[in-house]
Amino acid sequence: MTPRRGRTPGNLNPERTAFYDAEAERYDATRGGQERARAAAEAITRFVPAPGRLVDVAGGTGIVSAELAARGFDVLVTDLSPGMLRVAAGRLPGREVVATADRLPVRQGSVDVVTMVWLLHLLTIPLADAAVVEAARVLRPGGHLVATVDKDLAHGRGRRTGADAADRVALVAVRAGLHLVGQDSFSGRSTWGSATQGDPVFPLAAYRKA
Ligand SMILES: C[S@@+](CC[C@H](N)C(=O)[O-])C[C@H]1O[C@@H](n2cnc3c(N)ncnc32)[C@H](O)[C@@H]1O
Repeated sequence: MTPRRGRTPGNLNPERTAFYDAEAERYDATRGGQERARAAAEAITRFVPAPGRLVDVAGGTGIVSAELAARGFDVLVTDLSPGMLRVAAGRLPGREVVATADRLPVRQGSVDVVTMVWLLHLLTIPLADAAVVEAARVLRPGGHLVATVDKDLAHGRGRRTGADAADRVALVAVRAGLHLVGQDSFSGRSTWGSATQGDPVFPLAAYRKA
């Protein structure tokens, strides 16, 4: 899928960008690596088994995006962090673009699937809501948004922002025309600040555009 280049990224957060730029080189090794990425992609494809055009919003190093591409999806990776996207470019050359989650460089109604893996919990509630609304804008009727929810709880931590609380996201999604159609999970040995014994299990929710 070709992004619409030249659209100015909107709500960029310089602090968050600097954090992930600095993390990029060690990100994959410390966040569950290939095994976690494969588990995430498998769970996503259980919701949307037929491959199509997919935007992996906040796809970071592209480790999950590449697993989705390997399963036949035509993937575009978007992210705030140029450092993370440099790693993604090694996996999916030319398929990466800097963009904030609430302003995607993609035409309205042109996408089959939007994924947000480990994104919403990082955002403020207004920004998370705007990201869900933006996903609804770019999805075609019948398309799916698949997002991780309740991520901090999976790690045994308190919530950072509550922006990815499953019940809340489902309500926001309904207002944007997206209806909850399923819930699943995947596990990954992410050692990043996890307070759980064993591998955390990350809940995933799927919403379908009417
Ligand atoms: C925890 S990482 C997840 C990366 C990838 N989805 C994965 O599962 O490996 C969070 C990513 O969100 C990106 N990010 C944070 N805020 C964002 C925003 N407002 N818009 C787009 N990307 C954002 C960060 O740069 C980072 O790459």
